[in-house]
Amino acid sequence: MAKKKLSRIDLQQMKDKGETAVWITAYDFWTAQFAEQAEMDMILVGDSLGMCVYGYAGTVPVTMDQCIYHSEAVRRGAPKTFVIGDMPFLSYQVSVPDAVRNAGRFFKEAEVDAIKLEGGQRVIEQIKAIADAGMLVMGHIGLTPQSSGQLGGFKAQGRTAETAMELISDAVAIEKAGAFALLVEAVPPEVNKIIRDRLSIPVYGIGAGVHADGQVMICSDVLGIFQAFTPKFVKKYEDLGQKTVDAFRNYADDARKGVFPADEHTYKMVEGEWEKLTALLEKK
Ligand code: KIV
Repeated sequence: MAKKKLSRIDLQQMKDKGETAVWITAYDFWTAQFAEQAEMDMILVGDSLGMCVYGYAGTVPVTMDQCIYHSEAVRRGAPKTFVIGDMPFLSYQVSVPDAVRNAGRFFKEAEVDAIKLEGGQRVIEQIKAIADAGMLVMGHIGLTPQSSGQLGGFKAQGRTAETAMELISDAVAIEKAGAFALLVEAVPPEVNKIIRDRLSIPVYGIGAGVHADGQVMICSDVLGIFQAFTPKFVKKYEDLGQKTVDAFRNYADDARKGVFPADEHTYKMVEGEWEKLTALLEKK
C-alpha cells in the first residue's frame, strides 16, 4: 500500500533529518503504478521521455503537449505520489511570461505537484516568476541535456575548480530565487557535497554521488530497457529488455506451433447452443 503523498514540507524535513528521498522517472500509467507500489518518494515525468519513449537522440524535440499527456497518465497511475513535470526545451527559455504560463499548464492540466527546469543564472528570472506565481519549482544544474550541444555532449560537469565554482554559485542563486529543491546531474561527488551543504533546500543527485539529499534514476535504465547508450552513473537493476524479447519470442513460437491459444484461453458456447447452431447450419 502506498504511503501518504509527501508535501514540500515533508521533503524539506527529510533533508533536515538526513533521510534520503528516492525518486524515479515514469512516463506512462503502468510505470507510475509500479513506482507508487514500490513507495517511491517522488516521480519525475522527465523530458527524457523523448529518448526513452519516442526514440529521439536527445530531449530537444520534446514538446509541451507531449509532456502534459505523459504527466496526465502518470498522475492517474500514481495519485498518492509527489509528481514533478519536466519543462521541455523552449517552454521557458524564450520569456518569463512563457515560463509561467507553461509551468501553469502542468499544474492545471496534469495536476503535478512541482515542475523542474534546467539551467543556472540564465533562468533565474523564470524560477523567481514561477515561484512568485505560487508554484513549486525545482532547479537542475550540471549536465543539462537540453543544452548538451553547448556542453559538447552528454558529459560530466564541474570537474575543474572554475566550473565547480560556477555550479556552486548557480545553486546558491537558484535557492535564492525561490526553488524548493535542486537536481544536480553528472557532477563529482565532492562538488555535490559542497552544494548540498551550502543549500538549505534539498539537493538531489543523478550521477552526483552519495552526498545528496536523495537520488533519482531513469526508469528505463533501472529496468534495462534503454538500449541507445548507458551513462557511467547507471546501475541496471533488471534486464527487462531481454526478458521482453524472450516473452515476445515465446508467444510467437507457441502461436506458430498452434499450442497457443490453449483450451483455458478460449470461450465456451452456452450449453446446448452448439447443437442448435449445427442444426441451423444443416437446414441451410
Ligand atoms: O528528464 C529527465 O529524466 C531528467 C533526469 C536527469 C532525471 O531530468
